[in-house]
Amino acid sequence: MSTQHAPEPVGEGLFRTKGVEQSIRDTEDPEFALRKSLSALDLTVFGVGVIIGTGIFVLTGVVARENAGPATALAFVVSGVVCGLAALCYAEFASTVPVAGSAYTFAYASLGELPAWIIGWDLVLELALGCAVVAVGWSGYVRLLLSNAGLSLPEPLSGTHGDRFGFDLLAFILVLALTAVLVAGVKLSSRVTAVVVAVKVTVVLIVIVVGAFFITASNYQPFIPPAEPRPAAGGLTAPLIQLIVGYTPTDFGVMGIFTAAAVVFFAFIGFDIVATVAEETVRPQRDVPRGILGSLFICTVLYVAVSLVVTGMQHYTQLSVDAPLADAFKSVGHPFWAGLISFGAAVGLTSVCMILLLGQTRVFFAMSRDGLLPRTFSQVHPRFGTPYRSTVLLGLVVAVVAGLTSIQELAELVNIGTLFAFVVVAAGVILLRRRRPELPRSFRTPFVPYLPVASMLASLWLMLNLPAETWLRFGIWMAVGLVLYALYGRGHSRLGASH
Ligand code: ALA
Repeated sequence: MSTQHAPEPVGEGLFRTKGVEQSIRDTEDPEFALRKSLSALDLTVFGVGVIIGTGIFVLTGVVARENAGPATALAFVVSGVVCGLAALCYAEFASTVPVAGSAYTFAYASLGELPAWIIGWDLVLELALGCAVVAVGWSGYVRLLLSNAGLSLPEPLSGTHGDRFGFDLLAFILVLALTAVLVAGVKLSSRVTAVVVAVKVTVVLIVIVVGAFFITASNYQPFIPPAEPRPAAGGLTAPLIQLIVGYTPTDFGVMGIFTAAAVVFFAFIGFDIVATVAEETVRPQRDVPRGILGSLFICTVLYVAVSLVVTGMQHYTQLSVDAPLADAFKSVGHPFWAGLISFGAAVGLTSVCMILLLGQTRVFFAMSRDGLLPRTFSQVHPRFGTPYRSTVLLGLVVAVVAGLTSIQELAELVNIGTLFAFVVVAAGVILLRRRRPELPRSFRTPFVPYLPVASMLASLWLMLNLPAETWLRFGIWMAVGLVLYALYGRGHSRLGASH
């Protein structure tokens, strides 16, 4: 029998909020409680584990070739600053509301039920599609390694390439295997992650340290290539900002740095997910902010260094779009390092995929515990202490999506969803300071309200640099979510039931 009491809502209707104390009390009900076992180090490892992935291993090559040239390093700086501002807001929220569900929970405590639903639905998009994108990227690297060993999968099972459809068997199997690991328990998965993260960081350091010996200064000329009109980039594929101001869409130049920043933003996604495991942290008030800011800082430094080295090793026009880091070493005559880097990338992407899946199940869990999704998904496994039903359901869905899609543009969809969550969290920090100034905050965002406002503007600016068609897809996903809320969540909300 559940010992939960119906929560006391604050406010009315669509904007009723769930009290912060109520959110914390909910986590203490044994039937619905997650086991608390993570430390600051676990969280930082989690953060780095999910942050370094497809972004640096794959997208660096694409944006250097198509949008920014050697100035890709500046794009990483721009994206890193946008994420840093958001991280300071996430850290305050996570230290005030240390409950599973990340931005969703924060929004429920500050903005109200409808905004919380919107953000939860948005996070499902970010995490599920992010996980699928990374699984497909992983499968590409593994196929490359297999082909080096003389093995290959039949084409119909090797994923979709261009117009040729194929089921991505490896991506499908990866997601299912990771789902099983997550059902068995977070502690196990964080141990596996620690090993994987060590391999990945070592490989990134090899790229930086060994690669630095092969830099040719002339590859940096010009550092910011002059702006060029985009080939056939009219209509919906152009960044929204360029359409709005009626500017002829261009690649490269200063605008190209921002277009690149909006794409490489994918490389930073993940630090916000550290907040989704706040409830499983032993001392969340102290350790969650440390985990978030620490992992973001480490990754930003590594990304800038990697992109400078890679664009210095090979002229940006020559970089590979599939495996730019490994290919740069091949181009300077070192296939051994190239093989090692491919191996590290394949191992590294595994942890990214797993943590995205973990974050996603936790958001779903929190929404279900609140009654906005069916309650059956929030029961935890009697032995493992994990939300196994939501984990299995979402694992299956993501595995199928990863198997069926080749999703280059979906990375952009993931980015817009995440940036939108940043805007909501920054707004939430300001609102919660006004509404609940007395709440204990072990981490306080500096310069409120200026810093959160700057964070919102910076996130919006990157969103505007994404293609118009990405905005359209995002709009459709959100519209579907609103219909679901109207049909199910609104009537089943536990907060609503206590009214
Ligand atoms: N930041 C993660 C990546 O680059 C999602 O793959």
